[in-house]
Amino acid sequence: MGRFDGRVAVITGAARGIGFGVATRFAEEGASVAIIDLDEQAASDAAGKLPVIGDAKAIGIGCNVGDGASVDAAIARVVSELGGLHILMNNAGVTRDNLLFKMTEEDWDLVMNVHLKGAFLMSKAAQAHMSAQKYGKIINVSSTSATGNRGQANYSTAKGGIQSFTKTLGIELGKFGINVNAIAPGFIATEMTDATAARLGVDVETFRAGAADRNPVKRVGFPEDIAAVAAFLASDESSYVTGQTLYVDGGATLL
Ligand SMILES: NC(=O)c1ccc[n+]([C@@H]2O[C@H](COP(=O)([O-])OP(=O)(O)OC[C@H]3O[C@@H](n4cnc5c(N)ncnc54)[C@H](O)[C@@H]3O)[C@@H](O)[C@H]2O)c1
Repeated sequence: MGRFDGRVAVITGAARGIGFGVATRFAEEGASVAIIDLDEQAASDAAGKLPVIGDAKAIGIGCNVGDGASVDAAIARVVSELGGLHILMNNAGVTRDNLLFKMTEEDWDLVMNVHLKGAFLMSKAAQAHMSAQKYGKIINVSSTSATGNRGQANYSTAKGGIQSFTKTLGIELGKFGINVNAIAPGFIATEMTDATAARLGVDVETFRAGAADRNPVKRVGFPEDIAAVAAFLASDESSYVTGQTLYVDGGATLL
């Protein structure tokens, strides 16, 4: 028996990185999983690699989370192809880092659109099904950057907004049996952080070693670290927890 037997989970931006790690964990624990990402082929390829068990299924859906019609179509497909919707993780993300004076309007709009509007559209579409069945788990992805981070005026604002969004949905949706929480990761080794290293002209291992040195546990995080916490928040063991943001950062925000 897995904790997610008979449950359907949707994870956005899950063709790789943290999202794929979470999708893997949910599948290992019995869920049927829909991987949503911009490119349908990449999403389907990732779904094909998930360790589904028993009667569970995995599908990949191409969807831009910042586009309402695309989101509505994706959620409709999840419900028709997987037979329901119980868990949503709003994980899709992009960075367009720059100091304020160099940040373009496009850099600002894209980051807001993917993180904030994406979480809004997906949560709105998903809650219609969750409220009707009086059961649901929504997990948003914030960041330690929410506390402020040089060169990330757009991203840190969006990730701070995600925490406010999480509190508000927690208040609104609790009576419908829906828990809404957020995870704020610290440095997690993925293609996103590798791309940041490349942009700064630092090799990946040096960049990771620097990040490891800036937290008390002296290592970087991996998608599995986020997946373990996501599994707890998606499970019935967290049914008295809502509106919270849990920092999963090796204690980096303590220093
Ligand atoms: N890696 C870290 O250190 C770290 C730290 C804190 C927070 N986060 C957050 O965790 C989440 C996942 O990060 P990651 O490191 O795995 O990144 P990643 O770049 O490896 O993966 C992000 C995925 O999101 C997808 N995506 C982007 N825009 C999309 C859109 N409009 N619609 C659908 N999918 C879209 C991408 O195609 C990609 O597959 C993001 O929200 C990120 O901001 C990451």
